[in-house]
Amino acid sequence: MGAVILGTGSCLPRRVLTNQDLEEIVDTNDEWILSRTGISTRRKSSKGEETYRLATVAAENAMQMAGVTADEIDLIIVATISSHMTMPSCACFVQKELGANKAFAYDVNAACSGFLFGMDNADKYLRCEKGAKILLIGAETLSGRTNWEDRNTCILFGDGAGAVVMEYEDGARGIIGSNLRSDGSLWNLLYMHSAPSSNPDIFQADNPGSHIMMEGREVFKYAVKAMEGAVQELLERENVSISSVGLMIPHQANIRILKKLVSRIGIEEEKVFINVQKYGNTSAASIPIALDEANRAGRLQPDDLLLVCSFGGGFTWGAALLRW
Ligand code: ACO
Repeated sequence: MGAVILGTGSCLPRRVLTNQDLEEIVDTNDEWILSRTGISTRRKSSKGEETYRLATVAAENAMQMAGVTADEIDLIIVATISSHMTMPSCACFVQKELGANKAFAYDVNAACSGFLFGMDNADKYLRCEKGAKILLIGAETLSGRTNWEDRNTCILFGDGAGAVVMEYEDGARGIIGSNLRSDGSLWNLLYMHSAPSSNPDIFQADNPGSHIMMEGREVFKYAVKAMEGAVQELLERENVSISSVGLMIPHQANIRILKKLVSRIGIEEEKVFINVQKYGNTSAASIPIALDEANRAGRLQPDDLLLVCSFGGGFTWGAALLRW
């Protein structure tokens, strides 16, 4: 019917950063962070844990579960906004590390929706190239793009990577459909500058560099509304009721966004997989990390309907349904 997931994997940096650790860095406290975001800890990369290295280990774990070797991979897609280089792509570094010699590789930049957008790319590619195998990865080291003096943002984000191996399968399993959206007119509510241009003709003196900038309250409002709309439209289009969804894996933004979303779409809380308390918001990596944890914990059974949804900078957002 569509692209199926043959295996999942993830990789988290070793170093754990607690709310108490953050109290030493900015004027904040554990109670504030927990009550506003639900986050207790997040991971922070150290030397040797660049985005492509986390991505490579996550990919190896997914390939091991799938029983697929690197030389069988045809395409590598990495969803990221925090690769250690702009060119080549993170995906090219993963291709090199894995020795996936016949694969072509590219990155997707859709912020926190990157994995979801990449999954749609992969599904549509596989419907045309039915024998192909795709490695889809979400990987971030946002610790390198965080302003550690800004208590509004530095408490939210974490580093990590998650990966899946996908191929096309006839039958009932696989991706049923997705509903993806963007609205560039709202870019200035959540963004990250690149380095200032070296071309004097287009140099912008007010470019503050590459930190994440965010209007938290506005992002909160749009995130809930947009994900709710994307999920409702998708369920209606595919003629699926929310009660038939077996598991929902939302982008792990923060607990208050998720609780509001869950109550608005009317899914039982025990059907929603949440690990934001451990890893914070890992942007494009959050869905595949949660998917791998859920899968390894036995939360997904054959034939289960899985609903994923996300929201991120751009704005970008959407939802997808797949039969496990
Ligand atoms: N510790 C203590 N106090 C803080 C902190 C902190 N870390 N951060 C902000 N405050 C203070 C503010 O300065 C403000 O103080 P003031 O009233 O004296 O001015 C007060 O707390 C309230 O600030 P608000 O920004 O209004 O706090 P709010 O309740 O909106 O919570 C938060 C902020 C958690 C960022 C919230 O807006 C939110 O969750 N937004 C969504 C952001 C998000 O998830 N972004 C991720 C990227 S997009 C995505 O993944 C969906």
